[in-house]
Amino acid sequence: MSSDVRSAVVTGASGGIGRAIARVLVDEGFAVTMVGRSADKLRAVADSLVEPGGPEVHWLSGSLSEEGFLDEIVERHSARFGSLDLLVNNAGIAESRPVGEQTADFVDEHLTTNIRAVILLTDKCLPMLRSAASRRGSAQVVNTASNAGKRGEAGLATYSATKAAVVGYTEALHDELAGEGIKATAICPGLVDTPMADPYRAGGAVEMISPDDVAEAIRFTTRVSKACVIPEIILLRPTEWVAASEIR
Ligand SMILES: NC(=O)c1ccc[n+]([C@@H]2O[C@H](COP(=O)([O-])OP(=O)(O)OC[C@H]3O[C@@H](n4cnc5c(N)ncnc54)[C@H](OP(=O)(O)O)[C@@H]3O)[C@@H](O)[C@H]2O)c1
Repeated sequence: MSSDVRSAVVTGASGGIGRAIARVLVDEGFAVTMVGRSADKLRAVADSLVEPGGPEVHWLSGSLSEEGFLDEIVERHSARFGSLDLLVNNAGIAESRPVGEQTADFVDEHLTTNIRAVILLTDKCLPMLRSAASRRGSAQVVNTASNAGKRGEAGLATYSATKAAVVGYTEALHDELAGEGIKATAICPGLVDTPMADPYRAGGAVEMISPDDVAEAIRFTTRVSKACVIPEIILLRPTEWVAASEIR
């Protein structure tokens, strides 16, 4: 792999938003390592992205809750590419449960996937990100948070808390690493049309943000100059954050 090809790691790339992000990054010329739990889904996404003469597309299946798996992601990507231009911490889980019914297992699962893995994988990728930043002048971390991380949602208390943590963590990353040329961005979408949004379809059709909308926002962050950092992007549906009485 020649050092002028940029590379990315995308977690949660086996479907939904992550698949759309991987597609956009390959389109932008990034070689990509895609991560998810389902090998079958990752293989299918990779098959759809590989083109003769196009960037390399690799995938690795496992659970981000296992620290050993995080090490494996870094080892594999480093062995192939030596550095990392863009880490997209996108994988996440969301389950609705009322306050008063939270359990330790429920909370731990959300914390482990939605924030612990984000912090640990970023730490483990830092040498590769620093290598890319010293070679090209900049590298990037993009973390998929949620609009629920900006304004907590009823029924999603634990999820909202983990996503607020992702926002806070991304701000701290920016504060600490921007001087080295490592940019950090939190993406905060409202309801996106993926399997995660299935519970919201029960009452009938709901117009949602497309996974491609989110991926296009990330494409934008990869295109701006080294001098420009985009710390946060909020993507909302027209009625999100608007009280019912305010909807005209
Ligand atoms: N959909 C929305 O309305 C919405 C809104 C705001 C923010 N978000 C955030 O956007 C991100 C992507 O969500 P999505 O809507 O695309 O959901 P999705 O379709 O359910 O996809 C979730 C992805 O995360 C992966 N994943 C989950 N737990 C994992 C683990 N322990 N180890 C490895 N991979 C794991 C899944 O892998 P497998 O499928 O292979 O298991 C899948 O690729 C999440 O962080 C979510 O919180 C979603």
